Amino acid sequence: MELCRLLDFKDLGDERGKLVVIEGNQDIPFEIKRVFYIYGSDSQVVRGQHANKESEFVLINVAGKSKVRVTDGVGEHIVELNRPMQGIYIPKMIWKDMYDFSEDSVLLVITNTHYDGKEYIRDYDEYLKVMGVKK
Ligand code: TYD
Repeated sequence: MELCRLLDFKDLGDERGKLVVIEGNQDIPFEIKRVFYIYGSDSQVVRGQHANKESEFVLINVAGKSKVRVTDGVGEHIVELNRPMQGIYIPKMIWKDMYDFSEDSVLLVITNTHYDGKEYIRDYDEYLKVMGVKK
C-alpha cells in the first residue's frame, strides 16, 4: 500500500521572488475541493491522528517546518516538511500524525473533498480493525 509520495513543485520564481503554483490534477493527483491551513500549533502538539475514508491530502509547509508520520498499521514513514516547494501526498485510508511544529509553521493542506466528519476514523484500534491488521 502506498503510504505517501513526495511532490516537488516547479519554481516559477524570478529575481522578484518565488512563485509556486499547484493545479488540481496536474501538480497533484486530484481535483481540489478544499484548502485549509494550520498554524499556531506549538512543538508539543500532535494533530491529525486520524484516517479518512474519502479524503486524499497534499500537505505543504509554506512557512516553517513540521513532521508528518504516516502509517497503514504495518509500514511507517516520517517526513519533515520544511520547504514551500515540496509537498507530501497522502492517499485515503492512511493514518497520519502531524507534530514538531516550528513556531513559524504554516501547514497548508489541500484535499479532494468538502468537509464531512463522518468520513474520519479517529480511533486507532478501529482503524487497525478496518485495515485487517492484528495487534
Ligand atoms: P481536526 O480534524 O481535529 O484538525 P486536525 O486533523 O488538523 O488536527 O479539526 C479541528 C476542528 O475543525 C474540528 O472540530 C473539525 C473542524 N474542521 C472543519 O469544520 N472543517 C475542516 O475542513 C477541517 C479540517 C476541520
